[in-house]
Amino acid sequence: MEQRIRQSGHLKAPGNWINDPNGFIYYGGRYHLFYQYFPYAPMWGTMHWGHAVSDDLVNWEHVGISLFPTKYGDQNGCFSGSAVENDGKMVLFYTGVHYHEADPENIHISPKDKFESCQMMISSEDGMKFDNFNGKRVVIEPVADRKVGDRTHTRDPKVWKGKNGWYMVLGSQSEEGRGKLLFYRSEDLENWSYVNDVSKGPGWGWMWECPDYFETENGQVLVFSPMRFLKDGKWEENQAICMTVDFEEEQCEMKMPETYQYLDYGLDLYAPQSTVDEEGRRVLVAWLRMPEAVKEGDTAPWNGMFCLPRVVEARDGHVYFRVHPNVKKKYSRPIEDVKNAGPEGCRISLCLEDGGCVNAGGYRIFRRGNRICTDRSSVFCKGDGYRMMFETPDVREGSRLEIFVDEHMVEVYVNDGEYVISNAVYGMGRELQINGGSDVRLFGMNL
Ligand code: FRU
Repeated sequence: MEQRIRQSGHLKAPGNWINDPNGFIYYGGRYHLFYQYFPYAPMWGTMHWGHAVSDDLVNWEHVGISLFPTKYGDQNGCFSGSAVENDGKMVLFYTGVHYHEADPENIHISPKDKFESCQMMISSEDGMKFDNFNGKRVVIEPVADRKVGDRTHTRDPKVWKGKNGWYMVLGSQSEEGRGKLLFYRSEDLENWSYVNDVSKGPGWGWMWECPDYFETENGQVLVFSPMRFLKDGKWEENQAICMTVDFEEEQCEMKMPETYQYLDYGLDLYAPQSTVDEEGRRVLVAWLRMPEAVKEGDTAPWNGMFCLPRVVEARDGHVYFRVHPNVKKKYSRPIEDVKNAGPEGCRISLCLEDGGCVNAGGYRIFRRGNRICTDRSSVFCKGDGYRMMFETPDVREGSRLEIFVDEHMVEVYVNDGEYVISNAVYGMGRELQINGGSDVRLFGMNL
């Protein structure tokens, strides 16, 4: 990335490839959002951490690469992780990956899962400069005890400050080949001890990626991404889910319920990560998986973007994902016609009656009883093997929709975040038709 790139609304890959959000933090008076980044081609490969900053979670600036492989431990990639602030410094935790075997035709992948993973840290005085050669250290060696976890598949440290020290949760795999989480504790962020684990019976996936645990005013929430959670052979079987849990810090004992929600009922979002915003709200972003790179004019093709930041709240065991107030404020310029919206897209606000339908540029949103459904079949780049139709469970109250539409992503917030459906789209039109809607309002972005 030669120059800094500015973007508004959805944060997109600055060319080439991005996946998970990493190290999301409000630090030094602004937001820092890192991401899994392959800077050489629009496909997954040896992972770096790209870095974007923002004052308001709406206007972003990509500022370059922060982490790249320099050590034995992270020789083949700086995988996902998180950030905390300690003594004024920004401290990043991530998974270092070392391949024992690489594909001779593509050194960026390890075809037979022949690799090991350690947990690493690096800190920075200002959140901008990271000394990749002298500043890294391994804080947890590859797991040696198979009863605890898997040497290959243990990753994605999410660190937080608890009442009694620092805590880390890692995604891993049990001896029986099921997903599990590992909890560690530290007093100084450098020395970590394993405390406990948690897992479920069969049917919950073979490895749990990108765990995130946090407290909200009305409940403790766990978000994670089990691999091969869906078994219908369709793209993508790995899905991000969430639930309210009981977590006791002292013993790191977590009780998980039998039920779960999808993070997003569009089933395209994955690997979410949260932080606390300037006002103390829990805010989350997630990676939108895109089956094809976007090629626009002469610019580098890109693949991967993030959903709009969402405020997470739990109430009566349900997890709500409301679009962040800064985003709503930004999309508040009344417009008559969606064609008058800029490249950042528009917001459509309405109530939808049973049987009603919104067609936004070919993407259809309709209500069937108390469910909101979407159909992207006319605005997608793939056919068989991909999901086209989506629906929420029965909604509890009314059917107010806030729809954010841009060229490559549509987000449908139902009843202020009771459920959300977000989808990747390709070849969107510019027309809008609404049947069975009331109180319809259209907004573009305030520039
Ligand atoms: C999730 C994930 C993480 C891993 C990263 C590698 O999408 O597989 O578990 O750290 O991506 O890019």
